[in-house]
Amino acid sequence: MDREPQIAQHVEAIPEGSASALSPAVRLAHPRESGPLKAALGAAFFDDPIFGWLIGRGSSRQARLERYFAIQLAHSLADGCVWTSDGLQGAALCMPPGQWRLPPRLMIAHGGRFGSVFRGRLPHAVGLLAAIERRHLRDAHYYFANIGVAPNAQGQGLGSKLMRPTLDRCDKERLPAYLEASSERNAALYERLGFQCTEVLRFAGSPPLRLMMRPPQPWPRAT
Ligand SMILES: CC(C)(COP(=O)(O)OP(=O)(O)OC[C@H]1O[C@@H](n2cnc3c(N)ncnc32)[C@H](O)[C@@H]1OP(=O)(O)O)[C@@H](O)C(=O)NCCC(=O)NCCS
Repeated sequence: MDREPQIAQHVEAIPEGSASALSPAVRLAHPRESGPLKAALGAAFFDDPIFGWLIGRGSSRQARLERYFAIQLAHSLADGCVWTSDGLQGAALCMPPGQWRLPPRLMIAHGGRFGSVFRGRLPHAVGLLAAIERRHLRDAHYYFANIGVAPNAQGQGLGSKLMRPTLDRCDKERLPAYLEASSERNAALYERLGFQCTEVLRFAGSPPLRLMMRPPQPWPRAT
């Protein structure tokens, strides 16, 4: 299917005055870029505590993470926005109001792939996902499903930049943003961007997952 019209529609929807909309470094991804983006996301999440708990540290970890992110990218490219950089070093997968849940059609279509990602830990993955979904913000909001920057590009401001167009849009539309933070360090970044922890979720001995909501901030932003 040709996805150009939908991408164009998202581009037109970037809030006017958004500094990041003018930046050449951050842009929307094209579906044909899924390959390098799933590799960047797999590398970004290689040491993630939650995926470590679910996948373990075997030699297949990168390949299994890439399989997982291929599914997430398919959902976000179809129903949301995937922000990336020209070098494809990372991505922010953002879902608009009403689209946060992974649709059953995708779950069914990728059921075998989920099994090959989580293997014997599939019941834990399904249980954790259900616990996350039960607590998910019900009010209209933008959802950051995943944000990842490859290790060699981390700490240079790219992660913040990839989130900026969606945060600006939230502020312009007076809507909250929502995400789950998988470590204390990434939660600190989100706090700097205005997110507040609403609950710390632990499921069946998992590492803590911080559920975080960001109320809309004044728009236009003070410069
Ligand atoms: C979190 C992440 C997307 C931020 O992207 P980035 O380009 O490094 O972010 P920025 O340069 O804009 O901001 C730097 C801040 O990001 C966070 N961060 C940087 N590297 C990180 C890492 N490996 N793990 C977790 N958080 C990290 C820290 O808060 C850092 O600030 P600090 O250096 O003062 O500790 C990126 O580091 C990453 O992909 N980390 C691993 C995967 C992950 O944790 N994803 C988020 C899951 S909720």
